[in-house]
Amino acid sequence: MKIPPVKGTRDFYPPEMAIRNFIIDGWKAVSLRNGFEEYDGPILEHLQMYTQKSGDEIVEQLFSFKDRGDRELAIRPEITPTLARMVNQQINSLPKPIKWFSVPRLCRAERPQKGRLREFFQWNIDIIGIEADTSHPLGMMADAEIIFTTLDFLQYTGLTEKDIVVKVSSRKLLAAFLKNIGIAEKDLDLMYALLDKKPKMPPDTFKALLDEKLSDRDKTSKILSFMETDSLSKIEKSLGVNPEVDEAIEELLEHHRLLNEMDVGKFYKFDPSIVRGLAYYTGIVFEVHALGSELRAICGGGRYDNLLKDFGGPDIPAVGMGMGDCILEIFMREKDLLEDQIEKPTLDYFVVPAGVMTFDYEDGTVKSTPEDEAIKLMAQLRRRGFKADFSYKSSDLKKQLQEASAKNAKYCIIIGDEFKDNNLIIKNMTTGQQETIKKDEFLKNINKSK
Ligand code: HAM
Repeated sequence: MKIPPVKGTRDFYPPEMAIRNFIIDGWKAVSLRNGFEEYDGPILEHLQMYTQKSGDEIVEQLFSFKDRGDRELAIRPEITPTLARMVNQQINSLPKPIKWFSVPRLCRAERPQKGRLREFFQWNIDIIGIEADTSHPLGMMADAEIIFTTLDFLQYTGLTEKDIVVKVSSRKLLAAFLKNIGIAEKDLDLMYALLDKKPKMPPDTFKALLDEKLSDRDKTSKILSFMETDSLSKIEKSLGVNPEVDEAIEELLEHHRLLNEMDVGKFYKFDPSIVRGLAYYTGIVFEVHALGSELRAICGGGRYDNLLKDFGGPDIPAVGMGMGDCILEIFMREKDLLEDQIEKPTLDYFVVPAGVMTFDYEDGTVKSTPEDEAIKLMAQLRRRGFKADFSYKSSDLKKQLQEASAKNAKYCIIIGDEFKDNNLIIKNMTTGQQETIKKDEFLKNINKSK
């Protein structure tokens, strides 16, 4: 009986693995150069961790089960709650700000679709312990640095401002607006989840959904026009004097200014339709979108100042971002940015036994074959740190050389009849040139060059 892979999961054969590694190596390198340290947590957490504060959408997508001790557990659908738990556990000893990154494998029981799978990798960068404070010269820097680092990676892949846009808004601004039109504070979380559905459905369907949930056409039309406004000043004018709105607007302006200072303002667009699905965001929120493409967001994040406290820790603010590997890969492929950047496997040396003779060892007692000498040399090369290999398949010289070419070997080392005088033939696979050299001398020379 043939058993297929589980729906929404992927098998990574070596070519797919090379792509996954390119993406993950890039995430790691960019995190490190932006000053983030790596962490990880367990793949299993208590179910309650997600039912408490992540919001209904994530809860509906959980893979959860009861263990033999009747404990309700879930496979992690995101790592932010784990991060909050881990930081809370050591909050007194950790120097602040905490700038950490992680690349967890996550599972969400979503309906698999283009760029959305049931198992994926997600880059996370988070800064914990820096408050959004417009009265301080670096008060919005953590929010800006998360976006800068995100863009640093996307630029590293070859994407430019012609390909992507960072859409930025503010939960604080949205909350102030929603309360202003008469939505109760207790209903805000429900509203965020509802409004986050806007880009996922046709405009009429979204409007009908709002009408149905709010039973108030006036509110529906106010919400739609707010979400479609393209400038902060229009929003400011329409909301009148309101300290919460003023604070949110000051934060957005200062945040944008810092991004301009770091020369990434060209990627920026204020867009009040950005809400984010997760319940815990409290301040600036953002998503990166592919321009001229129907794809969903490449990544998203924002400020979540209450999560640590909600998980029983101190009142410490946080901001961060998550980027999956799936949409990114599809988009890079669409833009033709992938193939050239994936390194093909190469070898430094391919060792080729080619003679028919057997060789005497120095003491004259033991006979060895070209194969024995080849694997001995190959082992010496590998121990010195070179990538070296040989053929399991063929003793024919021509076929072995073909195999060496197929494996992108830089040099072939041929152990032929010359080896009776300890001579190796070194063939440069790029130029085709050959030289004969004593084995000891060869090993001495390559030692020098390493
Ligand atoms: P999220 O919006 O749920 O946020 O996910 C962030 C990104 O993860 C998405 O934009 C997408 O790239 C990727 N992603 C999510 N679900 C899937 C899926 N089923 N298949 C493939 N990719 C997916 C979070 O997870 C937050 N915890 C991010 C965060 C970190 N906020 C603050 N710190």
